[in-house]
Amino acid sequence: MSGSRLVARDVRMVFGGVVALERASIEVEPGRVIGLIGRNGSGKSTLFNCLTGFLKPTAGCITLDGRDITGEQPHKVMRAGVARTFQTPRVDQQTTAREAVLCGLYSRARHGFLASLLGLPGAQKAERQLQSEADGVVQRMHMQTWATSQVNKLSMGRVRSVEVARAIAADARYLLLDEPAAGIGRDEIRVLADEIRGLAERGIGVLLVEHNFSLIRLLCDEVTVLETGSVIFRGPPADAQDNEQVRQLYLGATATGEVAQ
Ligand SMILES: Nc1ncnc2c1ncn2[C@@H]1O[C@H](COP(=O)(O)OP(=O)(O)OP(=O)(O)O)[C@@H](O)[C@H]1O
Ligand SMILES: [Mg+2]
Repeated sequence: MSGSRLVARDVRMVFGGVVALERASIEVEPGRVIGLIGRNGSGKSTLFNCLTGFLKPTAGCITLDGRDITGEQPHKVMRAGVARTFQTPRVDQQTTAREAVLCGLYSRARHGFLASLLGLPGAQKAERQLQSEADGVVQRMHMQTWATSQVNKLSMGRVRSVEVARAIAADARYLLLDEPAAGIGRDEIRVLADEIRGLAERGIGVLLVEHNFSLIRLLCDEVTVLETGSVIFRGPPADAQDNEQVRQLYLGATATGEVAQ
């Protein structure tokens, strides 16, 4: 038995004639930040899709806390505690940031959360409880000053924070972030980095796809490197930099350690 963890084991994913993943394995444990890096088209998003039920692997399996969830529907995987963000954020543009958090709270059906609220005497009390839960998440994510703004008025960094906040509200135990720092500024990256560390400190297992190796080095306990669908390295980020194959294939020779794309 593998205990608490989200695992992809020997996953193969074929699209027509294209082999996107070949015996790809990864493990995400509570309280740890795992980086997933690789060149464009190496299979990172495909692995995310397999882990979260958006794709059924051609072969191999996905387990959650020892239970086989291979091919389970995305909403079921999410209800079981695995949340994700998308390379291109998917948040309703017409709602406010706070409403998006409330959406996350509503999806907590797996704990009988709504049932317990509905059991409270009086709908008003239930409503107050929901609002105060939403306040808690808004505060934790430092969203107070812009929580009532409409999503389509927010910067990319804030939209990505809203996606993370919604996942936290949904009580995710594992959070998969697909390039959360893409298209956002330096200051917002710093806020995001703090948020990600905070999530791990509260026991959430984080899987992070990120092209910026400085951020990977800063945040990740371990990194997995994909190359044409296969894992070519797994270990501490510092060792990835020392690995000749990884350097040649991926890191390039940039002086800053910034990853070449
Ligand atoms: N739905 C699909 N249908 C056909 N081919 C796909 C599909 N999704 C991904 N692929 C192919 O699978 C391979 C891996 O793609 P994937 O998007 O997983 O890479 P990635 O590592 O996330 O790349 P990037 O860094 O550009 O986001 C690519 O060759 C891609 O063209
Ligand atoms: Mg991708």
